[in-house]
Amino acid sequence: MASALQILRVPLARTGMMMMSTQTSHAFRRKAVPLIRNYASGAGEKSGGGVKLGLWGLLAAAGGGGGYYFWTTQQGGSGPRGASDYQKVYDAIAKILEEDAEYDDGSYGPVFVRLAWHASGTYDKSTKDGGSSKGTMRFEPESKHGANAGLHIARQKLEKVKSQFPWISYGDLWTLAGVVAVQEMGGPTIPWRAGRVDGTAQDCPPDGRLPDGANPSPKHPRDVFYRMGFDDQEIVALLGAHTLGRCHTDRSGFDGPWTNSPTAFSNSYYVEILGRKWVEKKWSGPKQFVDKESGQLMMLPADMAFVNDSEFKKWVETYAKDEKKYFDDFTKAYKKLLELGVPFPEGTPELKFKTA
Ligand code: HEM
Repeated sequence: MASALQILRVPLARTGMMMMSTQTSHAFRRKAVPLIRNYASGAGEKSGGGVKLGLWGLLAAAGGGGGYYFWTTQQGGSGPRGASDYQKVYDAIAKILEEDAEYDDGSYGPVFVRLAWHASGTYDKSTKDGGSSKGTMRFEPESKHGANAGLHIARQKLEKVKSQFPWISYGDLWTLAGVVAVQEMGGPTIPWRAGRVDGTAQDCPPDGRLPDGANPSPKHPRDVFYRMGFDDQEIVALLGAHTLGRCHTDRSGFDGPWTNSPTAFSNSYYVEILGRKWVEKKWSGPKQFVDKESGQLMMLPADMAFVNDSEFKKWVETYAKDEKKYFDDFTKAYKKLLELGVPFPEGTPELKFKTA
């Protein structure tokens, strides 16, 4: 049961203090990428402890808040946290994004987006469990679910930030990392709310809730995303994140990037899937497609469902033509994804972060 002290806040709107300033879209920023391999170690586990209200919080409460938004949670070391505290976490995540020049295409951004999505995408709206709320991917069996192969790299990398800010919950850290990644790779500003509280291994969702890249049926993403509460337009908007990153033979078994700019957020995924001729890759690995012209880009059987189904394809065409609309729709759908199943207390403010 929630403690009376669990939530104690002074919404900024009421105190008259401005939220973090909203950034303009960085739609056209394209970053060159440096590259290393240095996975930070760290078990990244549990936090315990009861409700704590720090001195600052008591002073702020006594003084009417002093323009600070704060609350307490049941995770270790939590105290009063304001927008500026989360901006500091944002900046620390931004700092590690490209610190290992040899990692993949030079950025942890894509794998942070995938971590945020897989932590969130287990939500089931009928049972109301799963989702990012409890940061359960730290635990087995969820950490060992096939769909999460390779995500230990992102979790371990973020341990460095967790040790700098031990008060942040894993659910908040991972979803915030997903926001940082999108914004720092040139994507739209994603409003984000804090409030996830770490759970235990008992809270792990069952296996099989995330989509299977090998499944070519349009029914499959509908089954998975309708379960979370998304519609066709939102599903297609979310899929545009495949502009970023790549498949790895030692993680999913598939191989290669979807676009030529895997560390720049854009509508390229839609442009590529519509504009190129896709042929089956000749190899001993799982069935996937490569572009006929260069053989360098790839599509999963699951990606092809989005151009083989007329309702999905309509949205693919819309986003290929209109990057601004894509950015707007992605922002809404991604925010919704990261918040699935999180019991935010009423009045929890949306934070918007400055890019680093
Ligand atoms: C039908 C739905 C989806 C399927 C079947 C799917 C499947 C996959 C697969 C097989 C990989 C390769 C993993 C690896 O080998 O490293 C991947 C990577 C990725 N996915 Fe998805 N995905 C889906 C939806 C999404 C959504 C909704 C997002 C985000 C909003 C997303 C973001 C990413 C990103 C950024 C990567 C690259 C990760 C990296 O470079 O390490 N995916 N996805």
